Amino acid sequence: MEQISLSIKGLEKFISRREIDEYAKLTAKYNKNLHEKTGAGNDFLGWVDLPNEISNKQEIIDAATNISKEIDVMVVIGIGGSYLGAKAVIDALSDNFSNYDTNSGSTRIVYAGHNISEDYLVELLQFLKLKEWGITVISKSGTTTEPAIAFRVLKNELETRYGKKLAGKRIIAITDEKKGALRQLADAEDYKTFVIPDDVGGRYSVLTPVGLFPIAVAGFDINEIIRGALYMHERTSSKINYENNIAEQYAAVRNALYKKGKTTEILVNYNPKLHYISEWWKQLYGESEGKENKGIFPASVNFTTDLHSMGQYIQEGIRNIFETVISVKAPENKLVVPHDELNLDKLNYLEGKRFEDINKMAELGTSIAHIDGGVPNIKIEIPKINEFYIGQLIYFFEKACGISGYALGVNPFDQPGVEAYKKNMFALLEKPGFEKETAEIKKRQND
Ligand code: PA5
Repeated sequence: MEQISLSIKGLEKFISRREIDEYAKLTAKYNKNLHEKTGAGNDFLGWVDLPNEISNKQEIIDAATNISKEIDVMVVIGIGGSYLGAKAVIDALSDNFSNYDTNSGSTRIVYAGHNISEDYLVELLQFLKLKEWGITVISKSGTTTEPAIAFRVLKNELETRYGKKLAGKRIIAITDEKKGALRQLADAEDYKTFVIPDDVGGRYSVLTPVGLFPIAVAGFDINEIIRGALYMHERTSSKINYENNIAEQYAAVRNALYKKGKTTEILVNYNPKLHYISEWWKQLYGESEGKENKGIFPASVNFTTDLHSMGQYIQEGIRNIFETVISVKAPENKLVVPHDELNLDKLNYLEGKRFEDINKMAELGTSIAHIDGGVPNIKIEIPKINEFYIGQLIYFFEKACGISGYALGVNPFDQPGVEAYKKNMFALLEKPGFEKETAEIKKRQND
């Protein structure tokens, strides 16, 4: 079977086998800590065996199929881990232009609650005016400000349009089993609900209903995604030795590079469908590792687009970066460069060549140039973009992130730093209970 592979040939110029081995020896232990739940943050390790334990697949598929018959557009409300996984997978699997196509036949997914922009929400309401639509509201805590206020607006709009009872049939809530404001409301209003397991944090929740339900509504095969994740679960288990364990290898080389001063990792793709896979990956790694004044800064670029912007910096800027390239072996489509009689652009030498071949040469040429310019290169090759391989990729990145965080010496499953902005925002908005903080922050503004 074709599978995702990891190549570290592009590191040879930069780190020795001995330097990698220092971490390679440790990754097996950290991987075991994940499986045996003996490391930091061990109450948030439900994701490790999740691919084996999803018992409500059919319920998710049935609910998605039923609601899809009623609506053209599903508004998915959530932020951070409660939105990025679904967005990443749906974008990767979708036709680039399906969201513009009113006749595509599948339910279009749009997002809300991931920003507080007034323009965004007003324009969304405008967009929904002539559509048949529904809401999937996702919040583990049920109290996050951004999705909660967006939900107020969208729920009001839906109720005004269809009446409270019918609107309630078009609202699906994904939240904690027992606690939180969203759980209370969902129970009171009798919404269809799905549960986010207690022991799975937001950024590791794609394989729970948080990701699976919107993905199923968008028309994709969640069984194949889970099958891919399961395959990678076995391939990266702590029983698989380092030489064959790509999650342990990726975690080891990242840490070895970090130790040598490579403090920024850039995730690269050559297919715009993967843009949000990078956004999801940035949250996964940034929120898991960036703490205690440590951690690799996760950045991303889309090539060749960004070769005409960030390419300059990557080639010649500060040499504290390394690249991880997601390379897709085979595209879905086929297109060749046509002949041009005048040949004013002198590009007839490309006549008959597939765009894919040109893209691959751009990829190879860029990797060589960046290595020559002092940028270590890791390559993750995926055979093609489909549910099975995206499922593999997700689990691979999650597993490697847990191991890598332990190797860095942090708890990869908490996010204490996320609270700082919230505290200030609540103080500035004069939230009840924040009177002391309000006085302090106002004083700072006046000083
Ligand atoms: O990864 C995380 O834990 C966060 O990004 C959360 O998912 C995000 O803050 C949203 O939280 P909630 O689902 O409680 O609304």
